Amino acid sequence: MTGKEIKELVCKMTLEEKASMLSGADFWHTQKIERLKIPEIMVSDGPHGLRKQADLADHLGVNESIQAVCFPSGCALASTFNRSLLEEQGRALGEECQAQDVAVLLGPAMNIKRSPLCGRNFEYLSEDPYLSGQLAAAIVHGVQSRQIGCCPKHFAMNNQETHRLNVSAEADERTIREIYLAGFEHVVKEEKPWTMMCSYNRINGTYSAANRWLLQDVLRQEWGFDGFVMSDWAAVDERIEDLLAGLNLEMPGNGGVNDKRVCEAVKDGMIEESVLDKCVEEILQIVFRCHRNRNHAAIFDLEKDHELSRRVAQEAFVLLKNNGALPLSEQEDVVFIGQYAKKPRYQGGGSSHVNSFRVTSAVEAAAGMEHVSFVQGFFDEKDLIDVQLEKEAVEAAKRAKAAVIFAGLPDSFECEGYDRTHMRMPHSQNHLISEVAKAQPNTIVLLHNGSPVEMPWINEVAAVLECYLGGQAVGSAQIDLLFGKVNPSGKLAETFPVKLEDNPSYLNFPGERNRAEYREGIFVGYRYYDTKKQDVLFPFGHGLSYTTFEYKNMTLSKTDIRDTDTITVSVDVTNTGRCAGKETVQLYIAAEGGSVIRPMKELKGFEKTYLKPGETKRVEFVLSKRSFAYWEERLSDWHAESGRYRILIGKSSRDIVLEQSVQFQSDISIPAVYDMNTTLGEIVSNPKLCGFLKVMEELLGSDMPKLFFEEEQGGAAEREAITLEMRNATALDTPLRSIIGFGTGAVSYETLEELVVQLNRWSGGM
Ligand code: BGC
Repeated sequence: MTGKEIKELVCKMTLEEKASMLSGADFWHTQKIERLKIPEIMVSDGPHGLRKQADLADHLGVNESIQAVCFPSGCALASTFNRSLLEEQGRALGEECQAQDVAVLLGPAMNIKRSPLCGRNFEYLSEDPYLSGQLAAAIVHGVQSRQIGCCPKHFAMNNQETHRLNVSAEADERTIREIYLAGFEHVVKEEKPWTMMCSYNRINGTYSAANRWLLQDVLRQEWGFDGFVMSDWAAVDERIEDLLAGLNLEMPGNGGVNDKRVCEAVKDGMIEESVLDKCVEEILQIVFRCHRNRNHAAIFDLEKDHELSRRVAQEAFVLLKNNGALPLSEQEDVVFIGQYAKKPRYQGGGSSHVNSFRVTSAVEAAAGMEHVSFVQGFFDEKDLIDVQLEKEAVEAAKRAKAAVIFAGLPDSFECEGYDRTHMRMPHSQNHLISEVAKAQPNTIVLLHNGSPVEMPWINEVAAVLECYLGGQAVGSAQIDLLFGKVNPSGKLAETFPVKLEDNPSYLNFPGERNRAEYREGIFVGYRYYDTKKQDVLFPFGHGLSYTTFEYKNMTLSKTDIRDTDTITVSVDVTNTGRCAGKETVQLYIAAEGGSVIRPMKELKGFEKTYLKPGETKRVEFVLSKRSFAYWEERLSDWHAESGRYRILIGKSSRDIVLEQSVQFQSDISIPAVYDMNTTLGEIVSNPKLCGFLKVMEELLGSDMPKLFFEEEQGGAAEREAITLEMRNATALDTPLRSIIGFGTGAVSYETLEELVVQLNRWSGGM
């Protein structure tokens, strides 16, 4: 249907029919209107697998959904650092949706991991907005290439579960733009998602659903979003306010209560009917797009997707530590210890919970490998040391050549709906790991968790493989990596702090009385740890391999750049080891000096590449002004200050191997506004004002302050009390108003006011 036809259709609708389109017909469907042949569409969770509920519906994953494929959760997807792989997964999900008559997939979930405690971190991608945006875009691209709509969520600042329905996330605009919106911005601008889901929480006091700035000014006007916005399930607070702010669809339904209020509001003249019309048009555009693109021949190939899930998991697992114990040999005795070897924890609880058609555990995947045995080690329902099981595990470990402990967080430790209160694993598991490690030097820990954990035993074990929540094929991927059939290539999309207290949000998470102040500002994740030079357990971007890579020949296409330029950075990567593998080359930018506070470095590019032993490939990155920019509130825009920037090429945020620098010359000047409190230093530091000192001298006469002292003044006693540096600092820190205070009476307030007027005129471009 064309835009014109949709407008005509809306003209034919009664007020009540229009209002009915504004809320779900039920938990998962939009309203249909048979009289006008307006069909319904179905939406379904979730980010990493289809949760289509055919019968009883809920938003917590309680009632059963159809059998589907559970891919690795967001935390694991992100550590693949692989855009094309996630796009492929997106295509598979799109096909599953087509085959199941689901029109919109409610994902990706792409909130920033502000604190490792957020109960829903397992669904989210990263602590870094660039990485989140790039990977979410790849997923959306894949899903929407199959003509299924995506619904990036939760827009925005849904970074905790505590009070998630009414907490106010409070931050300054720069922080919001740079950290919490930038990922969404990239996805909307590049991939044009068909829908968006607004979050439950408030942002600086206003609910996302009622946030006109967020939904209209930023999302539609600035970023050009042209789909419809739906609420998170029951996120609506005041329907009329939300409608005016730009919320199209209230989900799930509301039994018609809010529809009636909308009709009354139109009748009472509180809202123009044209607002309603526009809102319905935006919904119908997508509804008809979905129907036009239905593919009845689509095949839901569970087996094929299971294999894809395994491939994604292979690239998601991160080898955190390896002293040479991995890979294992199939010819030597290995004991698998722990519940998760047999019953893996491979997905999280809540609305993303998929009814997996099959789950492969490591024990199953190792069937037929005669040197592999299994002992239980622990049960995860209760955090109690089972002396008998532990003893059995230690004995088995002693007899074997290596012990692999399948450990991690039980379901109850992390889930949608509540946050963790600490970062520890169950004490019983930590104890088991230490005891086994005492008996067996080749102790390898495989972790199953959705978010970082503290590792008190890290120096006792030989290797650690972070498997996150690896999806239903988790066991096969584990065997592939453990025995070296596949080389690990995952990299951490988040920092693992040594302890919870090191995290920058620690003092303000989850806030108090429904208010979470994001006082760490832009210093989230490695932006904080690296700037503070804080020791971490494992840094952002870290991940080992069974081979080694060498980076060489970094070149820049130019070293002087302006606002409209792009610059290409290239580097050669060689596989210098003995087996094939994939490496993710990371590019960070560090601003040198400058007048604003910036993180030590920020990720602005990454490329994953496959290399055979001895092979070299050239990896390229294209940077633009945005790569160097921060959000400048005075311009209400992105701005890159003139100055030097270092371009860093690294294997992680803490392992920078090559660097070069560029000179950036900005054409944009920030209009400065001067007043009586402007200091002399601010005047002197503005190159545009160098001629202005003459004007000052004329106006101020003998009361013109001395700005620079070059020699020590006075006698020895005075020089001891007041250094040259202090004189200069004091002079430059003096505000204009103090010229009167320190003056001889020669300057009047009128003269100073005149000076301020001229100052503003000069800085405006003279
Ligand atoms: C969650 C959403 C989910 C929705 C529907 C909400 O509670 O926050 O992510 O899509 O339920 O299940």
